[in-house]
Amino acid sequence: MENAAASQNAARALLAFWRAAGVDMDEAEAVFSARPETAPAAASPANRSLPAREPFRIEPPPPKAKPKAKLQPAEDAVNTARAMAAEASTIAELRAAVDKFDGCALKATARNTVFSDGVDGSPVLILGEAPGKDEDEQAKPFVGRSGQLLDKMLATIGLSREANVLISNTIYWRPPGNRDPTQGETVSCLPFVERLIELSQPKLLILTGKAAAHTVLKREDGVMKLRGRRLRYNREGIKAPINVMVMLHPAYLLRQPQQKRLAWSDLLLAEAWLDELGVARAAHP
Ligand code: URA
Repeated sequence: MENAAASQNAARALLAFWRAAGVDMDEAEAVFSARPETAPAAASPANRSLPAREPFRIEPPPPKAKPKAKLQPAEDAVNTARAMAAEASTIAELRAAVDKFDGCALKATARNTVFSDGVDGSPVLILGEAPGKDEDEQAKPFVGRSGQLLDKMLATIGLSREANVLISNTIYWRPPGNRDPTQGETVSCLPFVERLIELSQPKLLILTGKAAAHTVLKREDGVMKLRGRRLRYNREGIKAPINVMVMLHPAYLLRQPQQKRLAWSDLLLAEAWLDELGVARAAHP
């Protein structure tokens, strides 16, 4: 019995370590709680008084589960999100509403709600996809390696989160193991994303990467087609069409550094556009 208890404690310690390391715990928990395949042996006369002992084995992880396809969230989660978002009349109120919202299942596994960083009401609003491990720990978007690259890119055109940029995401909680958010998770956060755009009325909205572009623009063109162009965002509730640019996601640039030349030409386009729009920026090289 002592051996079984020790094995279980060791397994629990291993799970805690996996959780801290950012492993998708749905999968890990499934391994831990998997019932042994072999039935316990029938009690023999010699051991009849002892309870049958289940052998403890760590099973190999099951084959990587396919992302749960196109799960629609409960209607009422989206309706609740819409109502809460509509009620917010400032970005601070919207932040508080997102913090209170329980309709996105990702909240249950995340450490923190990650809403925004930067200056509310900035002329430039940047939206990414979803928080990763660093963002989840610090409760701020884009603070990991890709965030550091984003900051450097912005600095080359006189933008910073301290002065003239507000940064947020299209999902406010870290998906376990950094998996792609499901459609349901995305749809349940969307009313808040749309309300943030409405309340910010930025001079320029920058969408980084495919997920943010598809979610906000509601079109499925590839990023390579969308980037490097002057686009417009318009929908009910927006006072006037908003200027939009799609840029390559900094995490993609870290994986494909040879694409930084495209990012550089996008930054030059943003710089020219911001000049035309009269957006005040810091002196930059
Ligand atoms: N990638 C994103 O899209 N958002 C973050 O906040 C961090 C990394």
